[in-house]
Amino acid sequence: MMIEWNKKQLAKNYESGRPLDTKVIIELFNKISEIVSLDNKKILDAGCGTGRISIPLSRRFDSLKITGVDKSKEMIEVLKEKIDEQKIKNYDVIKSDLSKIGFEDNYFDFAIISSVLHSIRDWHEVVKEVMRVIKKEGFLFLISEQGDIFDIGLERKASKGNGLLERFWGRYIELRHKYDLESPEKSQVGLKWELGEPKLIEFLSDMGYSESKSTITINWQKDFSIRESLDIIENRCWSSMFTADNQKFNNLIKDMKRWIEDEKISLQDKYTSSLTINCVVVRLIHPANS
Ligand SMILES: C[S@@+](CC[C@H](N)C(=O)[O-])C[C@H]1O[C@@H](n2cnc3c(N)ncnc32)[C@H](O)[C@@H]1O
Repeated sequence: MMIEWNKKQLAKNYESGRPLDTKVIIELFNKISEIVSLDNKKILDAGCGTGRISIPLSRRFDSLKITGVDKSKEMIEVLKEKIDEQKIKNYDVIKSDLSKIGFEDNYFDFAIISSVLHSIRDWHEVVKEVMRVIKKEGFLFLISEQGDIFDIGLERKASKGNGLLERFWGRYIELRHKYDLESPEKSQVGLKWELGEPKLIEFLSDMGYSESKSTITINWQKDFSIRESLDIIENRCWSSMFTADNQKFNNLIKDMKRWIEDEKISLQDKYTSSLTINCVVVRLIHPANS
């Protein structure tokens, strides 16, 4: 029986496709707090999703006041469940498009932007709006993630190795070609991953900001079973899977399962993925304030 894909299903399973251990997030924000104090500050998580990043942050720094803004009702529902279950008191959620954030100018001390701008066509407008609501002498935390599971599964790199990770995700990409599904990279309608932060900083400088920045990088590893890897595909956890034709995508999943059987791979078999999280801490300096 095929899993019917829908937005609710996606929101529930979203984090399985973007794994991030809580201890990695805590380590990241501990390092950030060595650069800038997070005590009693107001922080915006722009496109917060399920709060994958800002929920652990809210627990680690309880004097922070966090506001998560996202336009997706389904993602916000998952986030609100976490807030209730974990009895979190320092987190407000607002359902809104980021092109119009209902806060006064200069309201927040910081903004987190993580895995959002690639999916927003008019990302310049969103960045302008985020900059409007953060203080002119504020900070941006630009978070990005890399990993071999993404490199191969999103066709940023061809699979060459013989390891299970390379074989599984290499097979997935082969099947995308077989069913004539668009390259996963086509789902990037906004700021392309590969241009990322330099392009954003260039835009900030066009807006009159000069900046000083520090980059924090944490390398870590995670084991994935084949069952978990299949779940990422079946639940269409990555945006490149959202728009695929249902019939073709269901056939791809059937083929993938048949391949696993033919290759005598067990659903419990595991591979280790090497992952990296990067945060560029941008200190904003506006001529009007210097
Ligand atoms: C890939 S998720 C990232 C979520 C979270 N920042 C993280 O790192 O896990 C992208 C999120 O951006 C939200 N989003 C995309 N475009 C948006 C917009 N124009 N306004 C508000 N939210 C938006 C989506 O609803 C989704 O929850």
